[in-house]
Amino acid sequence: MRQTNEEKINRLEELKETYDRFKEKPFQLNLKRGVPGKDQLALSEPMLNILTPEDLYQETEADFRNYGVLTGIPEAKQFFSEVLEITADEVIVGGNSSLQLMYTVLASKMFLGQSDKNSAWAKEKVVKFLCPSPGYDRHFNATEKLGFELIPIEMTSTGPDMDQVEILVANDASIKGIWCIPTYSNPTGVTYSNEVVDRLAKMKTLAQDFVIMWDNAYVVHHLKEKKEHVQNVLETSKSYGTEKRVWMFCSTSKITFPGAGVAALGACKENIDWVTEVLSDQTIGFDKVNQKRHVKFLKDKKHLLQHMEKHAELLKPKFDSISNLFGNYFGEESTMLEWTEPNGGYFVHLTTMDGCADRIVELLADIGVSLTEANASYPYGVNPRNNSIRLAPTSISVEEIEAAVKAICLCVEMVSLEKELDSNK
Ligand SMILES: Cc1ncc(COP(=O)(O)O)c(C=O)c1O
Repeated sequence: MRQTNEEKINRLEELKETYDRFKEKPFQLNLKRGVPGKDQLALSEPMLNILTPEDLYQETEADFRNYGVLTGIPEAKQFFSEVLEITADEVIVGGNSSLQLMYTVLASKMFLGQSDKNSAWAKEKVVKFLCPSPGYDRHFNATEKLGFELIPIEMTSTGPDMDQVEILVANDASIKGIWCIPTYSNPTGVTYSNEVVDRLAKMKTLAQDFVIMWDNAYVVHHLKEKKEHVQNVLETSKSYGTEKRVWMFCSTSKITFPGAGVAALGACKENIDWVTEVLSDQTIGFDKVNQKRHVKFLKDKKHLLQHMEKHAELLKPKFDSISNLFGNYFGEESTMLEWTEPNGGYFVHLTTMDGCADRIVELLADIGVSLTEANASYPYGVNPRNNSIRLAPTSISVEEIEAAVKAICLCVEMVSLEKELDSNK
């Protein structure tokens, strides 16, 4: 039922009174970053004392306590080859951060060049990178600081808008790559369709050295019974002869410990050989003790998925409570807010009325509910519609989530009413 202006003014007054009460006694709630809760971290505590000396060295084999084995211990390569669905010789197992591996690939292509020094992107006047948005702010920041011009690409319900991508890459040799989070994307929860994977692998790029940065950070982070699965981009690209463009990444940051996990990179043999050489100037070898600890604890993909079910048990009530609360407050037809109900991953994305997101986040900060900056999921933090907010609810309790979402509903309604009244003037 449509509200009259007078009804809107009265409702706004009511909401402001509640808001002022919250302001006097602010919350202390942080939904800024996607970090596992303490109960999730506890799931991996048995891993800490799982190793015996015999696991690390035997007379005739490599001693994992020592230097060396740069590309990862064989059993860890085998483990990640199952996760990424590629062969073990297409895997490098690194340290604790997949972001660092991504940065190594991009920075090395920028300043060293892959085929020879002259192929370094830094030698070109302008280089650009495609950024499906909303996307991951750390991806965008890394490419911005490395000197790329960022081009936003609209994110659809099946992945990046491929019509837009294909036209751009076919006509501009300065476009060197695209960021992709193919499974339960950060922050929209979108999983790429087979068609999108196929088009990314097949598309003609004017840049011969184009890269697909395939960050499969949430590959096994299912929340529901139905597990979303992405078509294998490396295999697909092999069928088009474009495998050199594909760089896959994942890590155990949100499987075991973000501060002490293991990351992996997957690519064709030629890319693996190049990046191995690049890495050999950075380290004599990653933490193989931690690699061994992880493989002994997680074993294989089957056990990994069982372990992830324990995470899902802890996380699902949090995500369910968010969609229930928004559903009850705004109903199906609301023009004030759309929210995602992801089947996996770590985030809920909110689409507000145009022009409202930054004020909502500001109002929430003033009553002690900290969210990621509005529109941070866009390149340069610039979203002309100013309608994007990301919630990272994993690290707080269901009770805290309920309090935060009630505060969010209040601020969304306040700002939306202000906006509506303003546009009726
Ligand atoms: C899409 C995505 N990639 C990478 C990371 C961080 O990965 P890592 O801890 O392996 O560096 C995150 C963390 O939130 C993420 O959301």
